[in-house]
Amino acid sequence: MILETQRLFLREMTLSDLDALLLVLGDAESMRYYPKPFDREMVEKWIDRHRCNYAQHGLGLWAMVLKATGEVIGDCGLVWQEVEGHQELEIGYHIRRDQQMQGYATEAASACQEYAFNVLDSVGVARRRHRVISLIRPENIPSRRVAEKNGLKIVQETLWRDIPHYIYAVQRSESKLLTTSNFSEA
Ligand SMILES: CC(C)(COP(=O)(O)OP(=O)(O)OC[C@H]1O[C@@H](n2cnc3c(N)ncnc32)[C@H](O)[C@@H]1OP(=O)(O)O)[C@@H](O)C(=O)NCCC(=O)NCCS
Repeated sequence: MILETQRLFLREMTLSDLDALLLVLGDAESMRYYPKPFDREMVEKWIDRHRCNYAQHGLGLWAMVLKATGEVIGDCGLVWQEVEGHQELEIGYHIRRDQQMQGYATEAASACQEYAFNVLDSVGVARRRHRVISLIRPENIPSRRVAEKNGLKIVQETLWRDIPHYIYAVQRSESKLLTTSNFSEA
């Protein structure tokens, strides 16, 4: 387990999460702001990619487990992304459609922001981070709301993977999550 919030656990994803994550990432309605919904093979590669991220960087997107039921209902976590020639730490999230609109993405993303600013630095995983970002398509209002509720603001528009995106960011100095503790580290 990596993080715990009031209602959720975040833990490393494994191939045994494939079916659960296919329900999240393969949902055409939910994934309408992506080039296409994921098929089984894409989800398998997605899990592999994040397992490589855990091994190489000590972070990645983690499986999101609903404490109340033990189900995997999505993912959320931290990923290095190259944006305009710079390595940026991005907070990402995906929630199964029948579990959306209950604040889960906001709750998990908040814990990830706190983890990035407070924990990763203290264990020296990488250089000190001055900001975390989320790359969000302008049309993706739910994702923008999640970012905004956690204090991220639009700082730039960019073409990322040839698609217009807003760069939402929160600076370390502006983060409201530097001292509060809404997670525990395993
Ligand atoms: C983005 C996503 C993770 C949000 O998950 P969630 O658990 O529903 O998020 P939350 O419940 O924490 O917050 C959602 C917010 O979006 C708002 N929202 C959702 N749909 C909306 C719409 N059509 N118009 C306006 N606001 C909307 C909700 O009202 C809520 O804001 P509020 O608390 O101010 O009311 C989910 O929609 C998802 O998985 N989308 C597909 C994957 C994706 O796009 N990921 C982000 C890539 S950048």
